[in-house]
Amino acid sequence: MQVLSFSDYHNLSDFAASQIAFAIKNNPSLTLCMASGHTPSLTCDLLVKKLKEENIDYSSLHFLGLDEWAGLPPANEGSCHYFFQTKLFGPLQLDASQYFLFDAMADDLVNECNKMDEHIKKIGGIDMMLVGIGMNGHIGFNEPGTPFNSFCHVARLDETTKTVGQKYFTEKMELTKGITIGLRHLLAAKKALLQANGIKKATVIQQAVEGLVTETFPASIMQQHTNGFILVDEEAGSFLNKTH
Ligand code: GLP
Repeated sequence: MQVLSFSDYHNLSDFAASQIAFAIKNNPSLTLCMASGHTPSLTCDLLVKKLKEENIDYSSLHFLGLDEWAGLPPANEGSCHYFFQTKLFGPLQLDASQYFLFDAMADDLVNECNKMDEHIKKIGGIDMMLVGIGMNGHIGFNEPGTPFNSFCHVARLDETTKTVGQKYFTEKMELTKGITIGLRHLLAAKKALLQANGIKKATVIQQAVEGLVTETFPASIMQQHTNGFILVDEEAGSFLNKTH
């Protein structure tokens, strides 16, 4: 794992978007798995811009959604599905066959997890993952205590996730469970980027990068990724003690 530092959120997002655009250029049938949320928002905008301006063929790109709030319909503006629809699928006019997301409205969420695991296996694994980090160190909805060898699963959300998650919604939401791609898939991804910006992420970044590798702090798994990169802006990287 390597840490890459950028002066601000724009430069951080621009780098992430360039990495993805470059990967698609080199492998038009790239499988990209991404988190939604505030952190990757600008990356998505810049990626759309780059793909169009540079005339990169993304007609064979395959996209996987990292996670979703259980029970939330895609039309809810706080859902991960809504985020990807408005930020990527719509602007890029992706064909529905080009993306695979959890159906968080399904009666049988375990079946949704099995379907995603099978899909990942069928397509030969994930080429590139772009994830964020939660205020409890989670990745996707891999909450503290999740085994590093987890497949896709339904997670009971911890109190931090329930509280922080309110920021995506205009009214108070009852958030209890999430459905997520498991950490085993992150570790198996050919390349994994974790991005974080802002002073609020400085503590969790310090723990992810310099703390113990432990299942009680899921993002510490990045230290085990042989082609893993932690992208931080100056603020998010400001508590790092060592030179990385
Ligand atoms: C959310 C999501 C994650 C996301 C993380 C950070 O709860 N489950 O996939 O990466 O928390 O979100 P943000 O980028 O909004 O800080």
